[in-house]
Amino acid sequence: MQTVGERVLSGMQPSGALHLGNWQGALANWVRLQDQYRCFFMVADWHALTTRYQNTETLPELTREMVIDWLAAGLDPERAVIFCQSWVPAHAELALLLGMITPLGWLERVPSYKEKLRELAHREVHSYGFLGYPVLQTADIALYRARWVPVGQDQVPHVELSREVVRRFHALYGEGVLVEPEPLLTEANVLPGLDGRKMSKSYQNTLTLRESPEAVRSKVATMVTDPARVRRSDPGHPEVCPVFQLHRVFSAPDQVAEIDQACRTAAIGCVECKGRLAAAINRALDPLRERRAYWEAHGRSVGDILKAGSAAAQAEAAKTMEAVREAMSLSPQRLMGGDGG
Ligand code: TRP
Ligand code: SF4
Repeated sequence: MQTVGERVLSGMQPSGALHLGNWQGALANWVRLQDQYRCFFMVADWHALTTRYQNTETLPELTREMVIDWLAAGLDPERAVIFCQSWVPAHAELALLLGMITPLGWLERVPSYKEKLRELAHREVHSYGFLGYPVLQTADIALYRARWVPVGQDQVPHVELSREVVRRFHALYGEGVLVEPEPLLTEANVLPGLDGRKMSKSYQNTLTLRESPEAVRSKVATMVTDPARVRRSDPGHPEVCPVFQLHRVFSAPDQVAEIDQACRTAAIGCVECKGRLAAAINRALDPLRERRAYWEAHGRSVGDILKAGSAAAQAEAAKTMEAVREAMSLSPQRLMGGDGG
């Protein structure tokens, strides 16, 4: 299904160890895409600074842990360009230029801007960089002429803004320099955490990808279930049970159907049901454990991978920047008598 030449770019802020929700929501999709397109996967460390500029000393470790999880999940530096935003300074140059043509009103209208501003009011995020978050994100995408941007629903307004900015660039300076990006939505399940709320690091209800088999078992054992099922003999309602939602993702379809039936008729108890879920999650995580062991024992270090990836990214970015400078009459040749004299 590969459309020759079409590119994919996505990024994640360095957030340390990833959890099952990050994996199923985004990372698993990245792994599939790396065989279908030329892919660029980026550690968005400058984006992290928009809200976390006070404690930058944690960034290297958060980056290292996250990238190891990318590799464990199956991202392959031989097949995709895995790089670090701040190591490719062209992101800053393009963000500056695109910032010149982005109306303030467009940025103030981005839904996540107003939301976050309210949410983080106490953290002094009312900065120039924070308002410019989507401009930087546009530069990330446009720099690689990426057509597809795999993101979750929450990021769609950002990609739409990126498309508007690219259109405006073309209207001002000529068509064909950049590529209008589109969100690539996967039908991603939002996974419930141990407490039944959305799985999220900030709720401390996660199962991480580096959980040991025993930890998976003991944490799953603490999960909330159908609150109406008090006694073992009470029939359950799988449709309201977070354990069942995870079964849907990690257990085989025939198993899911059987558990659905057995829960409704009280033929299975929650303890057994959770034991089966833990086993299914452990089976899904086993290949990640193997790849993690490989990268930790024999693989190149995360630093080496990001360095090589950033050099490859830089080479691509340089081509785009040359075209951008040319289109905006900023290239030195313009002052050197036409043919470069
Ligand atoms: N804003 C994205 C997030 O927080 C991360 C990101 C930065 C990104 N630059 C990007 C995603 C470019 C897609 C494309 O999840
Ligand atoms: Fe949930 Fe399974 Fe218990 Fe049913 S048996 S309530 S699906 S944990």
